[in-house]
Amino acid sequence: MQSAQTGNDARVERLIEWLRDAHAMEAQAESMLSRQAERIEHYPELKARIEQHIRETQNQAKLVESCLRRHDASYSGIKDLGGKMMAMGQAMGGMMMGDEIVKGAQMGYVFENLEIASYEILIAAAEAVGDLETKKVCEQILVEEEAMAAWLREHLPKITQDHLTRLATPGVEAKR
Ligand SMILES: [Fe+2]
Repeated sequence: MQSAQTGNDARVERLIEWLRDAHAMEAQAESMLSRQAERIEHYPELKARIEQHIRETQNQAKLVESCLRRHDASYSGIKDLGGKMMAMGQAMGGMMMGDEIVKGAQMGYVFENLEIASYEILIAAAEAVGDLETKKVCEQILVEEEAMAAWLREHLPKITQDHLTRLATPGVEAKR
């Protein structure tokens, strides 16, 4: 990047750190969503939407990686993956409760909003350092995160009510 040579180093380094965080976040998202989708048995609409977002998430990880590679041709995501992700993963991992379908959709909504905030930050940072390709990529990813967040928000009432209906029906599993 030209800006890396022209006195913007500290700012570009910060942008790169945030891209690495986003890359780790997407890897975390993929594993959480996969675990979630695998476990769903009785809520096909939610399962299908999650599966769609898994494909989007895999592509997002590649897009973020392409931004990192433009700054550092030898970039390898491997060292990011051990990392930095928050307790959200654990929260979604511990799905032993009887309302896991509702809790999963709830945490999914929270996580999408975390992603939305991350890309808003990246867009602003990329703009500030003149990395317009990264800005464009992040804007493209943001659209998908917003669509997933909106879908989850819109469907939370129905998921909740379906869960309660199943709960009240003898011999029917409500949990997942
Ligand atoms: Fe994502």
